[in-house]
Amino acid sequence: MTIHDGEFSDLSDDNHRIWDANALWWDDTIGDGNEFQTLLIEPATERLLRPQAGDTILDIACGAGRFARRMADLGAQVLAFDQSEPFITRARERTTASAAVDYRVATIDAMATALAGASRVDKAVCTMALMDMPEVKPVFAALRTILSPGGIFVFSITHPCFHSASIQRFAEIGEEIDGRHVTRTGVKVSSYLSASARKTEGIIGQPEPQWFFHRPLSVLLGHGFDAGFSVDGIEEPRLPPADGKPGVRWSHMTDIPPIMAVRMRLG
Ligand SMILES: C[S@@+](CC[C@H](N)C(=O)[O-])C[C@H]1O[C@@H](n2cnc3c(N)ncnc32)[C@H](O)[C@@H]1O
Repeated sequence: MTIHDGEFSDLSDDNHRIWDANALWWDDTIGDGNEFQTLLIEPATERLLRPQAGDTILDIACGAGRFARRMADLGAQVLAFDQSEPFITRARERTTASAAVDYRVATIDAMATALAGASRVDKAVCTMALMDMPEVKPVFAALRTILSPGGIFVFSITHPCFHSASIQRFAEIGEEIDGRHVTRTGVKVSSYLSASARKTEGIIGQPEPQWFFHRPLSVLLGHGFDAGFSVDGIEEPRLPPADGKPGVRWSHMTDIPPIMAVRMRLG
């Protein structure tokens, strides 16, 4: 059986259209930060990336720039881009004139062309976007020319093993051998090895369901390995336990990591 390479270039235009349609609603809903961002994604990404004064950092698919601004607050010079014009307009509105963030409307291919011949950077980041991108090979190919040798690329994604568009979360109650009722919560995974593109709601109620590009770790990281990267850091953070009754929120199943963050280094 042929393994799908996880690249879905035929969906690029539709994916772009959907992100433009959702951008302002998305930022109105979570632009000030939700528990995934503040408790999981941002701390794990910061630990792996260590943004600091003197860094120049490329922020790939920056959305409305929440993490770009955080890196600038920590002293970095940030070049942040996204394909979606409404997201970049909102990012500029949310950013003070003195902040060291340069925003561009661009795809990864356009950015690689724009930066050809420019000084290389030591760090790049992509928060919660690779599973929203129809192709990841161009990301690694571009980073080969944008990053200095030894430079790092840190990305966060929904955890491919436990949090793809094809898993189900469950809560079930049953009687144990001692006669006591016990509730179990978790995820059901019935498909993992096959890369797939399917529609999902990243945030329930969003204007249009978006494309979700599932890639098993071997495929996703394999594209990075092929481009000369190795993995030298990984985090699988968990939410603190929910108070109260059982349910199917991620905070009800705290032994399952809903996201992962990975640091790859260019050899
Ligand atoms: C969930 S948002 C993440 C935004 C931001 N990084 C964050 O953490 O809030 C995914 C973003 O990926 C962008 N995107 C998808 N494909 C892209 C591509 N080929 N080039 C640039 N941006 C892309 C979308 O426009 C969208 O803003």
